[in-house]
Amino acid sequence: MDISKLAFLSLLALSSLCGLASATYKVGVGRADITGPPVEINFMGYANIKQVGRGIHTRVFARAFVVEDGKGNRVAFVSADAGMMGFGLKREVIKRLQARYGNVYHTDNVAISGTHTHGAPGGFLMHLLYDISILGFVPQTFEVMSQGIYLAIKRATDNLVDGRIFLSKTTVLNVNINRSPTSYLRNPAEERAQYEHDTDKTLTQLRFVDLENNLLGAFNWYAVHATSMNNTNQLVTSDNVGYAALLLEKEYNPNKMPGKGKFVGAFCSSNLGDVSPNIMGPKCSISGNECDLLTSRCPAGEGECFASGPGKDMFESTQILGQRLSDAALGLLNEQSQESTAREVTGDVRFIHQFVDMPNYNGSTYNPLTRKIDKVRGCQPAMGYSFAAGTTDGPGAFSFEQGTTTDNAMWNFVRDFIAAPTQEDIKCHEPKPILLATGRATFPYEWQPKIVSDQLLKIGDVIIAAVPCEFTTMAGRRLRNQIRAAASAAGGIDTEVIIAGLTNIYTSYTVTPEEYQAQRYEAASTIFGPHTHSIYMDVFERLTKAMMRNETVDAGPSPPYMNDVMLSLNTGVLFDGHPINTDFGYVKSQPNKEYGINETVKVTYISGNPRNNLFTEKTYFTVERKINEDRWKVAYTDASWETKMVWHRTNTILGFSELDIYWNISPQTLPGEYRIRHSGEYKYILGGKYPYEGLTHSFAVKED
Ligand SMILES: *[C@@H]1O[C@H](CO)[C@@H](O)[C@H](O)[C@H]1NC(C)=O
Ligand SMILES: *[C@@H]1O[C@H](CO)[C@@H](O)[C@H](O)[C@H]1NC(C)=O
Ligand SMILES: *[C@@H]1O[C@H](CO)[C@@H](O)[C@H](O)[C@H]1NC(C)=O
Ligand SMILES: *[C@@H]1O[C@H](CO)[C@@H](O)[C@H](O)[C@H]1NC(C)=O
Repeated sequence: MDISKLAFLSLLALSSLCGLASATYKVGVGRADITGPPVEINFMGYANIKQVGRGIHTRVFARAFVVEDGKGNRVAFVSADAGMMGFGLKREVIKRLQARYGNVYHTDNVAISGTHTHGAPGGFLMHLLYDISILGFVPQTFEVMSQGIYLAIKRATDNLVDGRIFLSKTTVLNVNINRSPTSYLRNPAEERAQYEHDTDKTLTQLRFVDLENNLLGAFNWYAVHATSMNNTNQLVTSDNVGYAALLLEKEYNPNKMPGKGKFVGAFCSSNLGDVSPNIMGPKCSISGNECDLLTSRCPAGEGECFASGPGKDMFESTQILGQRLSDAALGLLNEQSQESTAREVTGDVRFIHQFVDMPNYNGSTYNPLTRKIDKVRGCQPAMGYSFAAGTTDGPGAFSFEQGTTTDNAMWNFVRDFIAAPTQEDIKCHEPKPILLATGRATFPYEWQPKIVSDQLLKIGDVIIAAVPCEFTTMAGRRLRNQIRAAASAAGGIDTEVIIAGLTNIYTSYTVTPEEYQAQRYEAASTIFGPHTHSIYMDVFERLTKAMMRNETVDAGPSPPYMNDVMLSLNTGVLFDGHPINTDFGYVKSQPNKEYGINETVKVTYISGNPRNNLFTEKTYFTVERKINEDRWKVAYTDASWETKMVWHRTNTILGFSELDIYWNISPQTLPGEYRIRHSGEYKYILGGKYPYEGLTHSFAVKED
């Protein structure tokens, strides 16, 4: 054996030892449009009846990765620009996947997580409490989301190649604050002392590359509410994390419109329960004074208590935070290409899933309050008084206060009219005063889930813990530590645990038992009572052990099938009309002849109702730039940050409506000749939908 061969072989041995050698995994990423009806439907998140869609700022997308190991074990993970995920929706996605791929995908190996944007159309959850502010179920939202999430996974599957996965982390300050800091302080001092901040500041990234080290995608987890856009926003938006994704994707898909191109970059939700992006903190809206810390209320006459920042308005705040997150992810990607802090993910792919009947759960867990092993049990779902107070990201409608542990006769009367809690429920939820006994309400169907989905996806030494709710900071830290400890006890070395929030089923919040005592919004929304978190600790520990030992667990009870009983109070589009002497697509207000950088173009069309056609994966309009005499190139679409589309009915009886399109000419804009094209569909009064189009005059954008 000659010496060079020996050197080569030892290099090979060394590199395989370090896991650097072979095609460890098959990896694929995909993305699809999931933008629901942008007008006339309420947004999901703030439960604000006034927050009805009026148009689009950015489209919303589902982003997926699929990973398979050498033995054919496969998992799929989706981050959807959505308020959260519902099981009815996941069930539909699985149904579509199985029609295409047989049993390759199923409940147990697919995780679908919502980014928690509060700016996308609702009506896709099948539980009354969550659809009530949307006026019920919206089939159009449900359909576009099912198909889009299915397509994102299908595309990731079609894109599967031999590749490698890297894990890296960085700290991102100035993006989040704790919105219930007094609740956080209820956690034991020695536990808090282990952490520098009262929110998690770590951005965790999985980078997917092919064997030539070409970047395929990057999925980032960071704990922050996607509520930079506040409850006055009426334009569809993917908010701060969605904007971060668009920025990251723009970097690696140059010359592509937003939502297009092969590289997929996602910013996924994590333990964001008590985490606000409004980093200037809560203030009284009129006086500008600090709000009361415990109740988040302002003295009479000082206005409402809500948080904002860091920008001058919510658009700028979204932009600043999105930029910070995107820069952090980009920093890791640049660093990784120089082979530094990233570590390669190695090991087999596994998954485990169990449905758990929370109200009937009996288990035991370590209770940090008493430092003993406690019996724990769940309660029937119920929301506490402080739930109605809302949060400093979106205050509630009535005069409820956070931190309420006493009830009142008037609201109890209203509550009992809907569904009365039993004495056992009242006892079970203490110290939470019950405002809505959702677990006892059955009309017209379940108000909140009783059966939850608990799931782990393991990709080598990385475990993704999919939780069916919003864990607070400390609740998430405890769960991560618990899973890591259980994994390492079972032989897992240096396991990284990522919490994927708002996944598969939505059941509001989970706080620590200590935080529960304070009964702020998050605690009032911890629906299975004071032991909710303890039950998750118990279940996930068991699931981790079983997964590490390759054991299977009982599937648990199936959530009810409710598709055929959904209530919907939303009316469809009746018909569209237009004033005499005009037509659909007629440009009612033309652009000026000329614009400069930082100016805004506004044009108005006579239009149909955008709900007639969602233009999924297409666009309601294009801003086009002239290349030469017979060629125009699309410069912006309705998914672009620089544009906005606002629709309004101008005559309800005759069905007239108008569409305003705004284009902010950013400093990066190329000078030249531009025009704006709008494509729509109108609904004819005698039935049928017909396409139309409208084009503005061309106009000039001057040199800076
Ligand atoms: C929402 O943000 C806008 C600025 O973009 C501000 O004027 C308004 O007061 C905010 N409202 C709430 C309830 O946060
Ligand atoms: C849990 O305990 C309660 C009260 O003791 C009981 O009613 C319930 O049936 C038990 N659930 C299970 C799944 O054993
Ligand atoms: C579990 O299965 C994997 C392969 O799928 C194997 O590598 C591992 O050794 C098994 N672990 C145990 C504890 O049986
Ligand atoms: C456009 O606005 C940006 C940001 O406010 C500013 O830095 C820039 O100088 C402006 N450019 C022009 C030409 O007004």
